[in-house]
Amino acid sequence: MRKAWRVLGGATTVLALWTVGAGVAAAQEQAAPSTLLLHVDQPGPRIAPEIYGQFAEQLGRGIYEGIWVGPDSSIPNTRGIRKDVVAALREVKVPAVRWPGGCFADGYHWRDGIGPYGKRPRGINAAWGNEPDRNAFGTHEYMDFLDQIGAQAFVSVNVGSGSVREADEWMRYMTAPPESTPGAERKANGHAAPWSVPYVGIGNESWGCGGNMTAETYVAQFRQYVSNVRSFSGPKARLIAVGADTDDYDWTEKLMAGAMMWRPDPTPLAYVDRNPLMWGLSLHFYTFTGNDWYAKGRNVDFTQGDWAKALARANLTDEIVARHSAIMDRYDPDKKVALVVDEWGAWFDSEKGAPSALYLESTTRDAVIAGLSLNIFNRHADRIRMANLAQMVNVIQSLVLTRGKDMVVTPTWHVFDLYKVHQGATLIPVDVATPDYVEGQTRLPTVSASASRDAGGVVHLSIVNLDPVRAAPIRAVLAGMQGRGASARTVTAERIDTRIQFDQPDPFVPRDLTGVAVSGDTLSLTVPARSVTMVTLR
Ligand code: AHR
Repeated sequence: MRKAWRVLGGATTVLALWTVGAGVAAAQEQAAPSTLLLHVDQPGPRIAPEIYGQFAEQLGRGIYEGIWVGPDSSIPNTRGIRKDVVAALREVKVPAVRWPGGCFADGYHWRDGIGPYGKRPRGINAAWGNEPDRNAFGTHEYMDFLDQIGAQAFVSVNVGSGSVREADEWMRYMTAPPESTPGAERKANGHAAPWSVPYVGIGNESWGCGGNMTAETYVAQFRQYVSNVRSFSGPKARLIAVGADTDDYDWTEKLMAGAMMWRPDPTPLAYVDRNPLMWGLSLHFYTFTGNDWYAKGRNVDFTQGDWAKALARANLTDEIVARHSAIMDRYDPDKKVALVVDEWGAWFDSEKGAPSALYLESTTRDAVIAGLSLNIFNRHADRIRMANLAQMVNVIQSLVLTRGKDMVVTPTWHVFDLYKVHQGATLIPVDVATPDYVEGQTRLPTVSASASRDAGGVVHLSIVNLDPVRAAPIRAVLAGMQGRGASARTVTAERIDTRIQFDQPDPFVPRDLTGVAVSGDTLSLTVPARSVTMVTLR
């Protein structure tokens, strides 16, 4: 980066010159400076790697074509799973993948997806447009896929149209020893060793597509599933109860009151198991242009006003998480129960002619929403111990997009790649003093940040600049650390709606930021407009 002073319209304005796109220099006006205080001397909790988890539903081309092409495909694959997608997902260290849904999960019967492919039923995906469901990708294929990308299992069992018995039998099939009848069946289908199933979701959106239940009805269902759904080998299954949609605090209150303890009101002499019944309680929160589920806004060719409205919605994540956490704190002050944001992401209206259901183009705005959301999750690492981007491939805010044999990584993928250094690191609390970015009626903090220290003592600071046109000068004070060196990489693009395109060079490849300086306990740098930056501090 080179800085220049320019005179614009008679007034002196600080401008920064950036190298963007294919080496084109563009000048950026600067916002007022932001100040960060990193409490390196007051480390917080561990950032669970699972905060960087993913969600893949049998929807559109999320699984079929996106992951599964079949062993006979001309697209390079390993046992039917495409190699390019596996390589891209390994690169960002995906820790866990939630499957098979989503709304699909509460209509899924696991037996349809085992055994010889020729004998599997040709089903109908009732959750998503009655599309044919070939059942080619079932339990074995999912587990193989997880092995290939190095991720853990998170299965959602069917509560809406299934039964406790069906869920119990699926768990036995996956985790029982090969000497047992369910284990022998698994062995006969090609996998003798039990699989590890560390995370089990008990239904999905049971207040909506998963059964239209009241909180009271779901609590009763959940308690029954808890008694019967377990792993028969490997780690104890961590059960995740269906949590709230967005700001439904009443649901959280009722779940914590009714579904957390073995017996909420034991008599003084009665037995009570003090371990919570649930390992986690979920939360679903999506970013639209504004707050209307039925008008999510354009995915491409959007305005600066749309940009601001979408970022304002994404920024609400902080308040929503804080309020759900505060309710959980009253019932669970030791924070034993995790908040699991197992569906989040930028969900806009698909363009006419989109190649499959909920397929979205990927733009600069997605990168900024990803960085902003992940900063918020990191900062709430005391309560959030898993989050799952919706959805990993070809659906909503994807990490990768495919078109036949072609694959591209999205701007969101680049952010996950930059942020992977936070996985398993220790949170460093950051105070942020930043001017407002104002757009019409929308007012937002210009800069968002989170930081962590890894096992080797290296501090990583992620900074998002929400301002679409102005660079953000940053001065950071490192309490309890004397910096010896700093470098930074940034993801940005020429326009707010620059999109990733097949057959075009990737405009989002991160580039090194120049002008990053550390002296003693002070770091200074200027991050470009509409950018996500990772600073490495030694
Ligand atoms: O991610 C798409 C859908 O959004 C999921 O199937 C459902 O759980 C949510 O409403």
